[in-house]
Amino acid sequence: MTRLDKLLLHVPRLRRLVLDREAFAAHCARLQHELDESLERERALRQQLDKSGEEARALAAASGDGSSINERMRNDWDNRARTSSRYFIVTGEQARTEESFFDSGEANVRDHILNDLENICQGSDPRRMRIVEIGCGAGRLTRALAAVFGEIHAVDVSGEMIRQARETAGALPNVRLYVNNGADLSVLPAAPFHFAFSFLVFQHVPERSVIETYVREVHRVLEPGALFKFQVEGGPAPDEAPADTWHGVSFSEEELRAMALRCGFEARYLEGAGTQYLWAWFFKP
Ligand SMILES: C[S@@+](CC[C@H](N)C(=O)[O-])C[C@H]1O[C@@H](n2cnc3c(N)ncnc32)[C@H](O)[C@@H]1O
Repeated sequence: MTRLDKLLLHVPRLRRLVLDREAFAAHCARLQHELDESLERERALRQQLDKSGEEARALAAASGDGSSINERMRNDWDNRARTSSRYFIVTGEQARTEESFFDSGEANVRDHILNDLENICQGSDPRRMRIVEIGCGAGRLTRALAAVFGEIHAVDVSGEMIRQARETAGALPNVRLYVNNGADLSVLPAAPFHFAFSFLVFQHVPERSVIETYVREVHRVLEPGALFKFQVEGGPAPDEAPADTWHGVSFSEEELRAMALRCGFEARYLEGAGTQYLWAWFFKP
């Protein structure tokens, strides 16, 4: 075979390679464009919501309406849920589609639950465990938790979030959803619970007392030996703006240890101090 024959033999493959590369580059550019668009949308939504929040607060101040912290949490989260629950629950790519939203819930449950079954179940069969989820939002984690545990009792301060959670997880036979008052667990049935969990919730709570009340409440409903695993904001508190229903209060390890003691828990492990994801493992003795 001459050199020319060989070259001709290779030209179609070479051309295909070049075309494949161009198609791939175009695909990447399209993805980047979609990502830029959704980030831009997310930014605009946040600005819009911050603005309406400021207006509502200014109106409340002008009318002398000292709405309680629980009402503020409910109103703000109802508004966020109506605007776009997905974008206020997770960010960027995870919020883009319903599928990526629920995939992110499964990934979180894999990382924080399935990889930690020893602490969570302590030898019990998870299918026989009744658990509490605080701040379930639109059911992103609830759905994944329902595939692991026997019964999920999930509460949220926002009626609109719970309405959406009912659409996505309400039909599961082992899920119960409740709108609560944003402070305690009095909506739950009296039965003792075997595990309690909260993720991406307390980082938005503006007052320590609200979180401490929850910790006491979880202590009340958990059976002895059981674990409350939760995440709080552990990063540096912003200088100027006071904590609001988006930027919640921040904790140090020492503050969490002291809270555990006051509420009758053993703070066995703490992880992520100084970051947004400060995790606590509180065991009820
Ligand atoms: C960022 S979303 C996270 C939702 C869910 N944990 C997840 O990871 O998909 C925060 C949720 O916490 C709820 N929330 C905020 N403050 C609360 C409070 N004091 N009590 C109960 N739920 C609260 C909000 O309504 C919202 O649904």
